[in-house]
Amino acid sequence: MAPSPEPGTLALLAAAVVAAGASLVVLYTLRLGAPPWPSSPRARHAVMAALPAQVEGAILELGCGWGGLALALAARYPDRPVVGVELSPIPWAVARLRAWASRRKNLTVRRADLHQVDVARAGLIVCYLHREAMTRLAIRMRREAPPGAVVVSNSFGLGDWTPEARVPIGDGFGGVVLVYRVPPLSPPSARYNA
Ligand SMILES: C[S@@+](CC[C@H](N)C(=O)[O-])C[C@H]1O[C@@H](n2cnc3c(N)ncnc32)[C@H](O)[C@@H]1O
Repeated sequence: MAPSPEPGTLALLAAAVVAAGASLVVLYTLRLGAPPWPSSPRARHAVMAALPAQVEGAILELGCGWGGLALALAARYPDRPVVGVELSPIPWAVARLRAWASRRKNLTVRRADLHQVDVARAGLIVCYLHREAMTRLAIRMRREAPPGAVVVSNSFGLGDWTPEARVPIGDGFGGVVLVYRVPPLSPPSARYNA
């Protein structure tokens, strides 16, 4: 019989795995400009309050982190496909595991760059990112998202768009969840040159 490893060796191995995982999280935070910091319970409550009653099309959570909000979205819209998108490998793996464990058939978690994800069939986009990512997203939404699609963003505005609603988070810092709607189609020249 092979000798079992010393408890000290196992502890060292576990510490090395945790350190490698933490380093990967830090590296991706630096690369993407956003930590996998989940929406606070108050912010999540405000996001849920800001959601439309009905959604046409798919629901995307862009930058879904550890998957908590994606799970809540899948529970809220059981007859809609919900796709959580995350590039950072450790949060993505955890979100995927949580989606699998939840057995929610309408929830998938993809490892992808949110700036490459197709938004043409989205009816609702939920995000908690940062200013630069939202500016890029605003340009793509104007060009590619279907008219009427709703964007719900925790804290960060969608470029120069005007929100149709602001839901206070009630965090004592004036935090808000912003709600936007993709406008009706404008003439192609205006839509594509914007
Ligand atoms: C502040 S967290 C929000 C997590 C979750 N949406 C929530 O509200 O609880 C932002 C997440 O977006 C992810 N992210 C940032 N840029 C991304 C990109 N280009 N593609 C995919 N994920 C990205 C980060 O890795 C991080 O997990």
